Amino acid sequence: MAETLSLPTTTDRRLIYESLIPQIAVLVEGETDLIANLANIVAAIREGFGFFWVGFYLKKDNQLVLGPFQGPIACTRINFTMGVCGACYSRQEIIVVPDVELFPGHIACSSASKSEIVLPVFTPRGEVTMVLDVDSDQLNDFSETDAGGLREVIKIVERLIANAAV
Ligand code: SME
Repeated sequence: MAETLSLPTTTDRRLIYESLIPQIAVLVEGETDLIANLANIVAAIREGFGFFWVGFYLKKDNQLVLGPFQGPIACTRINFTMGVCGACYSRQEIIVVPDVELFPGHIACSSASKSEIVLPVFTPRGEVTMVLDVDSDQLNDFSETDAGGLREVIKIVERLIANAAV
């Protein structure tokens, strides 16, 4: 496994995703521990883009429970009916929130968080088993580029889950 990420010197997120995604695939190759891989994945995303907060919430006991993350401390448990993460879990779709103050039920783990994207991670049976939450301290910071790029990262996680289930 490579010890450092090699990232292009650009602010063009499309180019950064193009560089980062294959490196994340290599990073998790040969490691079977899911938590270790999730920890490195959030570190890679945060290093690549400098987002305010990047982390997974894992489905456990009918709640979403904080998993590997990078950034300030965060709320540990989220009900399926609460917040952007709960909405992503329940609707089973990517949710982009340009201004968190305008999202009914948004859970403010930090007042510095201004916009957010949350993506569901599916088991091979099509159930949501965790969500990836990325927060920015800038308003309206997430676009289709992020949804597409982060979805590619999620596909890597889904392959890990599928392989672990075999
Ligand atoms: N804002 C999220 C909660 C998680 S923190 O942002 C890390 C939500 O509304 O679900």
